[in-house]
Amino acid sequence: MMEVTKDIIYIGVNDHKVDLFEGQYVVPNGMAYNSYVILDEKTAVMDTVDAHFGEEWLANLEQALGGRKPDYLVVQHMEPDHSANIAKFAEKYPEAQIVGNAKTFTMVKNFFGTDYADRRVVVKDGESLSLGAHELTFVFAPMVHWPEVMVTYDAKDKVLFSADGFGKFGALDVDEDWACEARRYYFGIVGKYGMQVQNLLKKAAALDIQIICPLHGPVLTENLGYYIGLYDTWSAYKPESEGVFVAYASVYGNTKAAAELLAEKLREKGCPKVTVADLAREDMAECVEDAFRYDTLVLASCTYNGGVFPPMREFILDLTERGYRNRRVALIENGSWAATAAKVMEKMLEGSKDITFAENRVSIKSALDETSTAQVEALADELTK
Ligand SMILES: [Fe+2]
Ligand SMILES: [Fe+2]
Repeated sequence: MMEVTKDIIYIGVNDHKVDLFEGQYVVPNGMAYNSYVILDEKTAVMDTVDAHFGEEWLANLEQALGGRKPDYLVVQHMEPDHSANIAKFAEKYPEAQIVGNAKTFTMVKNFFGTDYADRRVVVKDGESLSLGAHELTFVFAPMVHWPEVMVTYDAKDKVLFSADGFGKFGALDVDEDWACEARRYYFGIVGKYGMQVQNLLKKAAALDIQIICPLHGPVLTENLGYYIGLYDTWSAYKPESEGVFVAYASVYGNTKAAAELLAEKLREKGCPKVTVADLAREDMAECVEDAFRYDTLVLASCTYNGGVFPPMREFILDLTERGYRNRRVALIENGSWAATAAKVMEKMLEGSKDITFAENRVSIKSALDETSTAQVEALADELTK
């Protein structure tokens, strides 16, 4: 437990047992499910935690309350990593009221079989709830990243409770860089909803925010412009850095050799940043993150069943369903008899906005030869000129 301010106490938990967060993301440093208590004339609890930590969370809550009872449970987000213990809480504290919006309570009913009709407070966008000195204002943030999501502003301590926004992978008892795991989290989980994040940032810009309390990752207390700036860049689908991400899918290593040769040439020619990844072996979410991070993406795949090698297909689908756009893309294909991979990759990206394809393409017949090596050279020239 930790004091965020004199009146706001952290009561979240660290999860080092989770195998896959949200059923698909590897989290080598675990995950934090954050929850907070606000102590005022009335007391409010901000969200619950994952199902596996109900007892630990309730014990934290009891300790933070120091003998008092909670008056409100504010439900900002109904995804079970935050909402799983609503029924447990409601049972332990029968006098507490549950605060959410109309969409929240539809989901509460679907998850728990009741919508607590006799003890709920249904709020509208922009409405406030007074705890005494602290007045909580609820700002709806639909699709960041579920439809019922709302964030909460406490004008007294100038705190924004930001739900999943500004969250990251990683438990709080492990020290690690914020941006890397926040970026992987953002593009993996919220990436599709850039426009909705932009809308939320516009609403947040009108507030005087000194502290951000997200539902995952550390409480942010300093240099908030840095975090808000990154969120603005990411949600506007703007590249964060100049650089090239070379993603390859290779069966016997010949496509890999071309990808690595291109990376070497790019470095030689002074490209500020070149990153190479094997899509079959590296974490897909890390690859998605890098595709959004840099201004140029190189896709290198062998031809397979008349299409592309499956890890490449999965990768491109991961990008397009997250609204990938506004980047330069170059294509490298390999095919021992009928190379079709470049055409297939181009077609998969046809619905993506503002994609500029490099003029130079590399087409390998089985293994690099003089012709395809010259194509790699020409592509490296084009990407660095
Ligand atoms: Fe979520
Ligand atoms: Fe979450």
